[in-house]
Amino acid sequence: MAEDLLLIEGTKEEQYQALLPQIEALLTGEEDLIANLANVAAALKQQFGWLWVGFYLVKKDELVLAPFQGPVACTRIKKGRGVCGKSWELASTLIVPDVEKFPGHIACSNLSKSEIVLPLLKDKEVVGVLDVDSEQLDTFDIIDQQYLEKILAFLAL
Ligand code: SME
Repeated sequence: MAEDLLLIEGTKEEQYQALLPQIEALLTGEEDLIANLANVAAALKQQFGWLWVGFYLVKKDELVLAPFQGPVACTRIKKGRGVCGKSWELASTLIVPDVEKFPGHIACSNLSKSEIVLPLLKDKEVVGVLDVDSEQLDTFDIIDQQYLEKILAFLAL
């Protein structure tokens, strides 16, 4: 795998379609989870330029900050708290078009306006989440959910 990502312009689907095989190639043959999470966060941030892209991992009874790209963020999140803790509790993806309308949303950055959080599932158990924040309202939809789920499926958890 070349060290440089091929970044493309186009529709959201076109961008994901170009990125997907590149992320797969980046992860192939590497089984270190932190290294792989770091490269996934970097690749998504580079292609899409979202405000914040990163992971939290379940450690005991909390989510703990893991590899990310973007401004500094809160370190620990309890189950059920904020969008991340809720996604963990429900073991499902949450798409939030306007973070101000999500009860209990944790504002790590005032610039964040919309958000998507996907659970990382291992043997049906949530072991972490992928959190993506955008500076625009209503950035994420089912297309993001579907492609991000495909990307998470490349991770050997
Ligand atoms: N907004 C998230 C917290 C994490 S930061 O956005 C990086 C939440 O409500 O869970």
